[in-house]
Parts: sequence; structure tokens; C-alpha cells
Amino acid sequence: MDATDVRRPAVWVNCAVSLDGRLAFAGGARARLSSEEDLRRVHRLRARSDAILVGVGTVVLDDPSLRVQWDRIGEPAGPAPLRVVVDGSGRTPPGARVLDGSAPTLIATTKRSSRTYPDGVGRLVAGSDRVDLAELFVELHRRGVRRLMVEGGSEILASVIRGGLFDRMTVYYAPVVVGGRTAPTMVSGPETRTPEELRALDLESVERLGAGFVATFRPPDRPDRGAAEGADLSYPPSDRSRDEAPVA
Ligand SMILES: NC(=O)c1ccc[n+]([C@@H]2O[C@H](COP(=O)([O-])OP(=O)(O)OC[C@H]3O[C@@H](n4cnc5c(N)ncnc54)[C@H](OP(=O)(O)O)[C@@H]3O)[C@@H](O)[C@H]2O)c1
Repeated sequence: MDATDVRRPAVWVNCAVSLDGRLAFAGGARARLSSEEDLRRVHRLRARSDAILVGVGTVVLDDPSLRVQWDRIGEPAGPAPLRVVVDGSGRTPPGARVLDGSAPTLIATTKRSSRTYPDGVGRLVAGSDRVDLAELFVELHRRGVRRLMVEGGSEILASVIRGGLFDRMTVYYAPVVVGGRTAPTMVSGPETRTPEELRALDLESVERLGAGFVATFRPPDRPDRGAAEGADLSYPPSDRSRDEAPVA
């Protein structure tokens, strides 16, 4: 499937890293790298998204709620974005917060898994070995998701970036160094061995935010598909109609 000629949502990748590009502490233990100012930015992004996606590795290690903290951004509570977990083998822990029923949730899985989930948690098969993200994104679009936020982790970011499946990427750089050998880097996935395999991005802006800074990137030389479909890719995102509620 060619990522440029299918209808998928506008995809906004967001993450926070240390200056040495690490997403977490040794072994993947959760590190809060965002400053208070950055957390407000992240929750504004979540609030303007129809869906928020993470990989199952992040669910296992961080147990995120993937909810919008409306208080943090000083807004009355709006509709909860759909939570999407990419979980090819069905290893989302039964007690994970994403399964708590507090927001619409969809587990994107593969033919490898026949696991069932609690009532109210949707299940979607896309792919036979790994979750086919291009297919998943098209299906999310079909279900009304027009703006999708991808929050990680390292393997999901590799697949989305290498697959050219995004329109914007914001990275908050915290002025700290993690170091070591086992702290995950921002992007894992396949090895890069030659200059031809480098993935180049266009730098759109750099802004100081609290103690750190936020850099915004876009894929190079690509028409802005999201904007062409009327999706809001402005930063900070402006208010937008919530009429198209996604269906899990
Ligand atoms: N600082 C930040 O902003 C931030 C944000 C999020 C996460 N994190 C960190 O990221 C780390 C987790 O990253 P991770 O790389 O271990 O896990 P991940 O990217 O969250 O999830 C990866 C898993 O998703 C499944 N998967 C299925 N289809 C896939 C596909 N097409 N592409 C990629 N993955 C697919 C695979 O598991 P199966 O084979 O079992 O399906 C894979 O192991 C944690 O340390 C967390 O703290 C940091």
C-alpha cells in the first residue's frame, strides 16, 4: 500500500526525549522527561486528536491512561479521544489502564492473537505477523478518525517514521542526559547501515519550552495530505469540530 495515496488520518507523532535521544531510563523504565509546560502542550495535542496510539511495549512498561487531563489545560472536559493500542500478540496486561473502560479503546492486533477483551474494548485485526499500520490507519479514517496522535514507543515510532506514515513530528528535548546501554532510543526498528537508508526530515520550527525545547519536523517533499483533507495541522492546534466521534 502506498502511504501517499490512501486516505488515512493526519498523523501527529509526539514524544519527549533526553538530549542523548533516550525515551526512558535503563531497560525502558518510565522517565518523565516532559516539563510542566510540555505536559500542557501534550494534553492540548491529545485534546485536539480523535485518537491516541501507542504500542503494547509502552502499555507494558508505562501503563499510560492515554486520557486528556482537561484540568491541566484549563478546559472543560470534552469527548475522550479513542485509545488505540498496537498489540500484535495480545499481551496487553489484563489490569492495564487502557482496559479500564474509562474511554473508548481499540486493540489493533493480528491473526496471531485470538484474545478477547472486556466489553467496550474494540478489537481490530490488521496484518498476520505485525500490525499493518498503513491498513490500521486507513481503517481508523474509515471510522471517523481524522487526526491521530502517535505517542510511541521506540518500535512504533520506527514503523511510523520508516513507513512515512506521519505528517508532523514534535519532539520535546529535555536538557538532561540519560546515557547507558539499555535506555531505549527515540527510534529502534531495523538497523541503518548506509547513507541511503537514512531517513531525512524537514525541520519546521524550534521553540524554547520551559527548561527544554520543542522541535517540529515534517516529512520532506511530500504534499501536506492532512491539510489537503481539511485536517488541522496547525501548532498549537486550534479548536475544531468534534462532530465526527470515532467508533471503536
Ligand atoms: N518519552 C516518551 O515520549 C515516550 C512515549 C512512549 C513510550 N516511551 C517509552 O518507550 C518504551 C517502549 O517502547 P517499545 O519500543 O518497547 O514498545 P512500543 O513501541 O510501545 O511497542 C512495540 C510493540 O508493538 C508491537 N507491534 C505490533 N505491530 C507493530 C508494528 N507494525 N510496528 C511496531 N511495533 C509493533 C510489537 O509487540 P508484539 O510483537 O507483541 O505485537 C512491538 O514489540 C518504554 O520505555 C516507554 O517508557 C516513551
